[in-house]
Amino acid sequence: MAFSSLEIRNFRCFDELFLDISANQILFYGNNGCGKTAILESIYVATSGRSFRTHNLESLIKKGSKAFSIKAYDNLNGSVLEVKKEKKHPINIKVNNSKVVRSELIRAFPSFIIDSKTFFYNDNSPDYRRKHLDRGLFIASKDYSKDWFAYFRALKQRNSALKLCDLTQVGAYDDLLDFHGNNITQQREKLVVDVGNVFSEIIGQLKQKIKRAMIFENINIKLNCGYNKNLGLKAELYKTHNIDLKRKITTKGPHKADINFDSEGLLIKDIFSRGEQKMLAIIWSISQNIALSRMYKFNPILLLDDLSSELDSEMFELFIEIIKFIENRFIFSNIVDLFGSKITLTNPNFKKFHVEQII
Ligand SMILES: Nc1ncnc2c1ncn2[C@@H]1O[C@H](COP(=O)(O)OP(=O)(O)OP(=O)(O)O)[C@@H](O)[C@H]1O
Ligand SMILES: [Mg+2]
Repeated sequence: MAFSSLEIRNFRCFDELFLDISANQILFYGNNGCGKTAILESIYVATSGRSFRTHNLESLIKKGSKAFSIKAYDNLNGSVLEVKKEKKHPINIKVNNSKVVRSELIRAFPSFIIDSKTFFYNDNSPDYRRKHLDRGLFIASKDYSKDWFAYFRALKQRNSALKLCDLTQVGAYDDLLDFHGNNITQQREKLVVDVGNVFSEIIGQLKQKIKRAMIFENINIKLNCGYNKNLGLKAELYKTHNIDLKRKITTKGPHKADINFDSEGLLIKDIFSRGEQKMLAIIWSISQNIALSRMYKFNPILLLDDLSSELDSEMFELFIEIIKFIENRFIFSNIVDLFGSKITLTNPNFKKFHVEQII
């Protein structure tokens, strides 16, 4: 289902807001505090049941109100998605009046966010990069989520056995971790290769138009699977039994995976400027979105919050070229309408909204 309109009530700074979001690429622009992030957040909440800013959904309810609600309509087939959150109650999600759980929702209406945490992708912890990759696979592939749940269930039990110093029990989980862990690694590796190919495709075309894009060439992007792959996960788990017993935690495995970005042996986070890191994170996230859509034949919405901070005018030129590669719905925000006219000229399916401050 592709949303064509959105109705928000008592959400963040908004009492009521009706939006036509039928265009394929949409920009929300306006001053600090006018509600740009809130609008993107409402779309993310409607499509995932979660916020990308906070775990506390109560903070999204407009001050002085008892509940927020979001309705999204597909005007083509008449479907309605309704999300309601009342204070002290769990979030309630309905599609065409039938209750749905989060796992169904995120698959039915996939969405991905590029926000301030994503901008410093390379400076973030391995945990962040792993979750960024996993969320995509999780939504796109049911097989992946089955392996993921089975792996983490076994990991939890193995860690409990480590705390009890019960080596027989610890060893008993190694086969399960090996089986599901290898499946996880295989799917992650495939995705990283595919995203890397899309990334190179984009940079290859960009550099012909804008020389600056050449800084993103020759970056090595590699999945570190979290264990010695030549040895194999089972052997590695066996080898680390004593270390794990001492630390009371499983030290090797896909739960320790990371993606490494380097250039001529130097880590990108140590050499790239902030603006360069931000642009790299945007291109990488867009590439992941494209690769997932091609691999799993689905159409996730891509949200990007607060484009402009840290980017100079040449980086904007680059961005305008990059969004031509996005095949799915793309909704983004920026403080000013710096480049709207340029995009409008090249893309008839582009719409922009000036969000005004409510005082
Ligand atoms: N629960 C709430 N009730 C009322 N107002 C809120 C609530 N949560 C946030 N706000 C206010 O909503 C306004 C919009 O916030 P938002 O983060 O969407 O702004 P923005 O347009 O993204 O600004 P910036 O350019 O600084 O990122 C802010 O003034 C904020 O203080
Ligand atoms: Mg904002």
